[in-house]
Amino acid sequence: MPEYQENSIVQKIDRLAETLYRLTLRAPLIAAAARPGQFVMATCGPTLDPLLRRPFSIHRCSGPETIQLLIRVIGRGTELLARCRPGESVSLIGPLGRGFRLPAPTTPVCLVGGGIGIAPLLFWADRLDAPERCAVLLGSRTGEELTELTAAFSQLGCRVETATDDGSLGHHGLVIDLLIPHLTTVSKVYACGPHPMLAAVAAACRSARVPCEVSLEAHMACGLGACLGCTVPGADGRYLHVCKNGPVMAAEEVAWNR
Ligand SMILES: Cc1cc2nc3c(=O)[nH]c(=O)nc-3n(C[C@H](O)[C@H](O)[C@H](O)COP(=O)(O)OP(=O)(O)OC[C@H]3O[C@@H](n4cnc5c(N)ncnc54)[C@H](O)[C@@H]3O)c2cc1C
Ligand code: FES
Repeated sequence: MPEYQENSIVQKIDRLAETLYRLTLRAPLIAAAARPGQFVMATCGPTLDPLLRRPFSIHRCSGPETIQLLIRVIGRGTELLARCRPGESVSLIGPLGRGFRLPAPTTPVCLVGGGIGIAPLLFWADRLDAPERCAVLLGSRTGEELTELTAAFSQLGCRVETATDDGSLGHHGLVIDLLIPHLTTVSKVYACGPHPMLAAVAAACRSARVPCEVSLEAHMACGLGACLGCTVPGADGRYLHVCKNGPVMAAEEVAWNR
């Protein structure tokens, strides 16, 4: 699959919540090649500090030549990206990694996103044949973080349910609580979020015998399979590289308890 190094141009930046930003970038080569679940490695800021690129899921291909990134500010790199202004350049390498595998057409599916793990799921919902047969379960700390995202999935025709830690929107509790009732009706689950959430989703799907794909997060220095910094233990005893074997993997490929 093609991978490019492309100097994207910032077109727009929207603040969706206190620490959540959506960056719209003109990146025609990457936009044309991207598949849902893939990611880019982005430079952060105009100087060599920070030196390393940071990985970000492709949130959406918002036009034939543009991609969007959903950025949660947690450190220096993400803070610099959130401060970008229209017209500035952000160097990207991508699209990288293995994305989600398409289900059979019109199969009922469930997308489960926790926190910033919601980022790749909107691009996935965009490409589903039958979004009206897709239940989207979104979990976050507060309702503020989910307002725009919920609306975007609903506009596609998906059925959206929410769970928040503070009870400010939807179910007061964990997103996994929302998944259990769906497991009798859906044929496949796709999940992205923090590791404990993914482990719980994988266990619930295994018990219900529902196939599940997970998009994993790991610290990444290169994103290209060269530094071996992004390994997770595989169920077969070998190590998997999140950047090359994933980030999307079948849940049964991962050793969740190690
Ligand atoms: C495949 C993939 C896709 C990702 N997609 C997105 C996305 O769409 N949007 C988004 O906002 N973020 C995403 N991330 C996470 C993002 O890459 C990190 O938040 C970012 O690199 C942090 O950079 P920083 O310079 O701001 O923070 P740093 O200064 O590097 O780190 C700040 C703190 O956060 C911790 N940290 C850094 N990276 C991670 C991580 N991956 N997991 C847990 N803790 C971490 C550090 O240990 C440190 O304590 C993704 C990561 C991966 C691997
Ligand atoms: S990030 Fe370097 S090998 Fe995966």
